[in-house]
Amino acid sequence: MRHAPEDTFDTMIYTLLLLAAAGNALALTEYSGPVPKLSHMPFGFAGQATGGSTNVSAVYVVSNAAELREAVALPYAKTIYVNGTIQGNQLPNGTLAKCQDYIDMTGSPGSAVHGFNFETYLLSLNATYVSLVEQAIADNVPFDGRNATEYRTLLGHQNGYRPVVAATQKAQVGFKLTNNTSLVGLDANAALNGINLYLSSVNNIWIRNLKLVPPQDCFPAPETFPSSWNALYDAVGLVTASNVWVDNCELQDQLSGEYVEPDIIEPGWQVDRFDGLFDCEDGTDNVTFSHNIVRNHHKSLLLGGGTKEADRDLGKMHFTIFGNYFNGSASRNPLMRFGSFDIFSNVYKARNDNPPRFGDANAVFQYHLGIYNQSRVQVQDNVFLQYGAFPNDTSRIFTVGEAALLDRPARVCIRETPPHVPPTMNGVAIASLHQVMADTVDFFVDSGKAVEGAVVLTCDGFQDYEVPKVFEDSEDVLQYVLSEAGQVR
Ligand SMILES: *[C@@H]1O[C@H](CO)[C@@H](O)[C@H](O)[C@H]1NC(C)=O
Ligand SMILES: *[C@@H]1O[C@H](CO)[C@@H](O)[C@H](O)[C@H]1NC(C)=O
Ligand SMILES: *[C@@H]1O[C@H](CO)[C@@H](O)[C@H](O)[C@H]1NC(C)=O
Ligand SMILES: *[C@@H]1O[C@H](CO)[C@@H](O)[C@H](O)[C@H]1NC(C)=O
Ligand SMILES: *[C@@H]1O[C@H](CO)[C@@H](O)[C@H](O)[C@H]1NC(C)=O
Ligand SMILES: *[C@@H]1O[C@H](CO)[C@@H](O)[C@H](O)[C@H]1NC(C)=O
Ligand SMILES: *[C@@H]1O[C@H](CO)[C@@H](O)[C@H](O)[C@H]1NC(C)=O
Ligand SMILES: *[C@@H]1O[C@H](CO)[C@@H](O)[C@H](O)[C@H]1NC(C)=O
Ligand SMILES: *[C@@H]1O[C@H](CO)[C@@H](O)[C@H](O)[C@H]1NC(C)=O
Ligand SMILES: *[C@@H]1O[C@H](CO)[C@@H](O)[C@H](O)[C@H]1NC(C)=O
Ligand SMILES: *[C@@H]1O[C@H](CO)[C@@H](O)[C@H](O)[C@H]1NC(C)=O
Repeated sequence: MRHAPEDTFDTMIYTLLLLAAAGNALALTEYSGPVPKLSHMPFGFAGQATGGSTNVSAVYVVSNAAELREAVALPYAKTIYVNGTIQGNQLPNGTLAKCQDYIDMTGSPGSAVHGFNFETYLLSLNATYVSLVEQAIADNVPFDGRNATEYRTLLGHQNGYRPVVAATQKAQVGFKLTNNTSLVGLDANAALNGINLYLSSVNNIWIRNLKLVPPQDCFPAPETFPSSWNALYDAVGLVTASNVWVDNCELQDQLSGEYVEPDIIEPGWQVDRFDGLFDCEDGTDNVTFSHNIVRNHHKSLLLGGGTKEADRDLGKMHFTIFGNYFNGSASRNPLMRFGSFDIFSNVYKARNDNPPRFGDANAVFQYHLGIYNQSRVQVQDNVFLQYGAFPNDTSRIFTVGEAALLDRPARVCIRETPPHVPPTMNGVAIASLHQVMADTVDFFVDSGKAVEGAVVLTCDGFQDYEVPKVFEDSEDVLQYVLSEAGQVR
């Protein structure tokens, strides 16, 4: 998740959309039909969340983007059932927008901004290329068959046009939730496809039984050539949100569940159009992320947006991450900063083709748990499964980042002896997960990327509290997660 100077502008666009929606308000369908049999109740840090469930006189069903947009904006407590697949790019007239449509829809007919083109934009960032165009102007010759002067002007505008057309996509694919909302899939066919749910300064939300597929950013900005990109749009993004429970969902790159490869654009750009699946920041608090499947994505759960948010995060950012199946999630399962994180009873399955440690990381899988600045992390009852070239390697279970402050160290408490579940990798005992973590810290200290003492392994000051289920062993956890995680069939 990133958010940016253009936020005020986005809010303005969003407000205009809302006004437009209010202008021709649809009749939302009240719903009293059969509901899915969802057995879990909120627990952990979001244990107080009720969503919209307390208001039995506000229950709706939505089947398309316009209905969803209207329902999430209702200013009172409500339950919204999602029927089938809702496409985030579905325009008010029913058409599914492509990237070019967002460009064409921006501004008025004939607007100069329609001259935006993603490939031209990438060329415009290439100083060598631009200097060739300038040379053609100096030589008074066409460039690549075009008027070089006009082309240079067009190149000069691309960087300014990009955020303007991006705001059009954002207004279409972004759905802002309001307080006291339950958003629930009617059955296992329910999906939000290409939708960014954003929870900004909202309280008391349930998101349940949904497939959640984030939008692909049509207009991401490159950070470094060829493969580092600044793409927008999480499947679910929390900014200063509280009491949020996400349960029985499936978060993934596309409906099929397969990983989406980057787009290749000359001369070798690998365009990554995805941001996170579940990113939380800016003083968010009291979140439970439970019984979800997180599959085939590269940067999945970012919990803590970075140093600039430290003042708003410290003392908040309490997360329970329980009973999830991370299957092919390449990193950030989660990445954690400035808060308290209970990582309990999850299954981690990865294809590990990278050699141990982080020297040579060409394959997709990077790491599971990122222990970053001042995080307080409790780890227990998790199960690890790996296949690929290095099925037994434990060096990617943890990584360490931003570990520099001796006076405010990150703290990690690992419970791995009965009554807690002794950890396993592929069913074989991991002798000591504590030692795996200690080795990870040593590796980062030795390579100069962390300061000794800035990550402390201790359970002092952590509370060992009641969990929804006590497990016998890894197999018990695995069977529980296999049967409880994901949408309810
Ligand atoms: C949400 O519910 C709380 C009580 O649970 C209430 O105080 C608050 O006004 C509600 N907010 C909205 C927008 O309905
Ligand atoms: C419950 O829903 C009704 C709409 O049916 C709404 O008017 C009322 O304000 C809601 N109550 C609460 C407490 O949000
Ligand atoms: C869900 O959508 C299907 C197909 O559009 C429709 O036939 C059905 O009536 C809808 N169900 C509800 C509860 O609205
Ligand atoms: C739907 O709206 C879009 C955007 O305004 C427009 O480009 C498209 O032609 C419309 N399609 C139909 C079938 O009206
Ligand atoms: C920049 O442009 C030059 C000249 O066209 C080209 O050789 C080079 O590959 C381009 N580099 C990138 C990163 O696009
Ligand atoms: C190229 O475009 C510029 C600006 O529109 C114009 O002044 C110039 O005459 C054009 N050159 C040619 C060769 O057409
Ligand atoms: C939603 O809840 C938050 C936190 O309780 C509160 O600050 C905010 O004013 C509420 N928003 C509305 C529109 O009632
Ligand atoms: C989070 O939960 C704790 C404990 O129930 C409560 O004290 C705190 O006010 C909650 N924070 C928010 C932002 O709701
Ligand atoms: C995990 O992902 C793989 C590859 O996408 C898939 O074949 C397998 O069925 C998944 N396992 C579970 C339990 O969902
Ligand atoms: C992984 O561990 C298993 C069981 O201990 C062993 O049979 C296998 O040879 C190991 N594989 C590799 C690549 O080290
Ligand atoms: C860690 O967080 C503190 C704020 O508490 C900040 O001053 C510091 O720069 C951060 N360190 C890193 C490496 O990000």
